[in-house]
Amino acid sequence: MSIRNLDDLLAEGVSGRRVLVRADLNVPLDKQTGEITDDGRIRAVLPTLSALVSAGAKVVVCSHLGRPKGAPDPQFSLRPVAGRLGELLDAPVHFAEDTVGDSARSTVDALADGQVALLENLRFNKGETSKDDAERGAFADQLAAFGDAYVDDAFGAVHRKHASVYDVPARLPHVAGRLVLREVEVLSKLTGQPERPYVVVLGGSKVSDKLAVIEALLPTVDRLLIGGGMCFTFLKAQGHEVGTSLLEKEMVETCRNILERSEGKIMLPVDVVAATAFSPDADHDVFRADGIPSHRIGLDIGPETVAGFAAALSQAKTIFWNGPMGVFEMAPFAAGTRGVAEAITKADAFSVVGGGDSAAAVRALGLDESSFGHISTGGGASLEYLEGKTLPGIAALEK
Ligand code: 3PG
Ligand code: MG
Repeated sequence: MSIRNLDDLLAEGVSGRRVLVRADLNVPLDKQTGEITDDGRIRAVLPTLSALVSAGAKVVVCSHLGRPKGAPDPQFSLRPVAGRLGELLDAPVHFAEDTVGDSARSTVDALADGQVALLENLRFNKGETSKDDAERGAFADQLAAFGDAYVDDAFGAVHRKHASVYDVPARLPHVAGRLVLREVEVLSKLTGQPERPYVVVLGGSKVSDKLAVIEALLPTVDRLLIGGGMCFTFLKAQGHEVGTSLLEKEMVETCRNILERSEGKIMLPVDVVAATAFSPDADHDVFRADGIPSHRIGLDIGPETVAGFAAALSQAKTIFWNGPMGVFEMAPFAAGTRGVAEAITKADAFSVVGGGDSAAAVRALGLDESSFGHISTGGGASLEYLEGKTLPGIAALEK
């Protein structure tokens, strides 16, 4: 990659310099308690932050959380993240109550060498996500004033043309952090010459979200296994009834067209677990994919499908997996995701797990993270990378 990285910045010396780090600390929070349910993204940025702390930088961290609408909204405050980050770094993290206001200024000004500050949610400011270059630029000016150098370690956000990702690096000396570097190194193996067979597993709820990546991957992969909510639109395209399962009617024709062109590379479920309601307590049974009753909702792939997918995965030398196979958050519908994940860990292959949801599934199901080749912190970002799109955050670092 023709991008300067953290080691280049460290070699220049950062002691006493203010380094602005864009991180992706967009972690899932429990709706009731507000507690962090998966801190994987916080852990993923520690190598960069620790290196800067050890080198005596004044580290100013910024991130988004959720999708607030350009104004402060307490449910999206980064305060709990500051607490968790402090625990993991084993050092206090000074939290600013705003992003670029008085609190941020005084917090940054008070930093001693080797100390860390976290600014409040970037998306509490309209300028962060604005489509208007001038509005984004004005916000980027304010952010850039907090740093003498900029490090992008927010891989999960590199596909966003946002002020902190795209405009700040145009204003400061900039490098890629350790996480961004590693993510790009790994994903570029998949877009280069992956060792074959190359098998991709896609899940998640919507076909429309995955359409571009399916189109981009079809010529490249040897096998494409499709589960999750999106499989029902494909099953419908095969001529099956899907009961009350998730269905994107307007995508059926597109799916039929994809299947026709897929040269038999696409594997769809042959059985599904379908319930009487979207509830962990609902009655549920396994049905043939061509025999889903009209009043049932499909919530997971069935055991025969898991076995078929596992057999395909056992042959693979390269695997990419994005998206759960079912509603794994509900125990009765977790077997598909677990089965596929376990098959991936058993395969003698280089495996990449892409996406917040699949990464969270790996941890929530108690699987050993180290048995995967790489767990990406980026969902949309890793998919857009595989689509071959220009990612604004990466392009900005290249300049
Ligand atoms: C993610 O969770 O995918 C990243 O943090 C990006 O968030 P966004 O989809 O709200 O831009
Ligand atoms: Mg996303």
